[in-house]
Amino acid sequence: MLSRFVSSQLLNTVSKNGKQFSTSAKNKARVAVAGASGGIGQPLSLLLKQSPLVSELSLYDIVHAPGVAADLSHIETKAKVTGYNGNEQMADAFKNVDIVVIPAGVPRKPGMTRDDLFNTNASIVASIVKAVGENSPKAFIAIISNPVNSTVPIAAEVLKKLGVYDPKRLFGVTTLDIVRANTFIAEAKGLDPATTHVPVIGGHSGVTIIPVISQAKPSVSFPQPELDKLTVRIQEAGTEVVKAKAGAGSATLSMAYAGAKFTFSLAKALHGESNVQEISYIESDVVPGVKYFSSPIILGKNGVEKNLGLGTLSDFEKKLLETAIPELQKNIKKGEEFVAKS
Ligand SMILES: NC(=O)c1ccc[n+]([C@@H]2O[C@H](COP(=O)([O-])OP(=O)(O)OC[C@H]3O[C@@H](n4cnc5c(N)ncnc54)[C@H](O)[C@@H]3O)[C@@H](O)[C@H]2O)c1
Repeated sequence: MLSRFVSSQLLNTVSKNGKQFSTSAKNKARVAVAGASGGIGQPLSLLLKQSPLVSELSLYDIVHAPGVAADLSHIETKAKVTGYNGNEQMADAFKNVDIVVIPAGVPRKPGMTRDDLFNTNASIVASIVKAVGENSPKAFIAIISNPVNSTVPIAAEVLKKLGVYDPKRLFGVTTLDIVRANTFIAEAKGLDPATTHVPVIGGHSGVTIIPVISQAKPSVSFPQPELDKLTVRIQEAGTEVVKAKAGAGSATLSMAYAGAKFTFSLAKALHGESNVQEISYIESDVVPGVKYFSSPIILGKNGVEKNLGLGTLSDFEKKLLETAIPELQKNIKKGEEFVAKS
């Protein structure tokens, strides 16, 4: 899948008559990755370096970023790569960038929930987002660091304090949940995962992950016990990887794939491609009383152009939503309170 994905991105450079054209510099995005030396950061940066949609890659981490940058800079693609290490270089890392992707922070170990990461990752995300807000206040910010349900509200509150918050430009990356749902449903029905589309809405942890299998394309149906099993598998897929890695971290390669996929959509929208659709955890009013919620959206030059909402949910999915709401509200409040207190 990775190779098909990479080659499909590279095919973006080939016009319909088969001739090669190069995207002009102004049609390319300057992208920063914060946490670039990590398990996600490195393969994510590799995928971004291979894309014709990226002109500059600014790699930031508290360790090893210049080494990762030197390594990637030898790849024969045009994107210019620079590494920035540590607090004193953070401002430079985020100057004049269009998109910042944030996979910085600690991952889960077996037995941990995403919320267990809050104490460490909350301040990491807050400090990075502050530097982004100060140096590239118009950048699209895509947050991968967990717990996403709380780190996105944290980022919003930090940007509000700086007076530069634009809800259309802040995204929680839940793409991996959709990637997993596409894969598992396609496997169950013998479909091609690359052309199977299963929306997953809500948040990015446990019961807040709501697969909307009733809206899958192509349309599929399952007896209730199988639907229950598939739903739980999609909700717990991250834990499946954490257990299999047995202490060596959580999903990194599939997350890099998902993070790159989302970043490419942001880059395409930024440069005027129409009808770019994604699903992302954003400030939202589609579910009353839940301030941040992941749902299908249309992206444009200025970020979120339209929230497509929930669509029609089955009775089973409505129950999943009811279960998710109090958990989401708790996670959002925790993020907001963290910034209020700090
Ligand atoms: N959104 C999702 O679907 C999803 C999926 C998988 C993992 N994650 C999350 O992504 C995060 C990263 O996971 P990983 O496996 O790459 O972890 P990792 O430990 O391999 O890498 C994290 C990187 O962040 C860096 N870092 C730590 N503090 C930093 C700071 N203040 N500034 C800049 N960089 C800093 C570390 O040096 C390290 O290189 C975790 O929070 C994990 O839970 C999210």
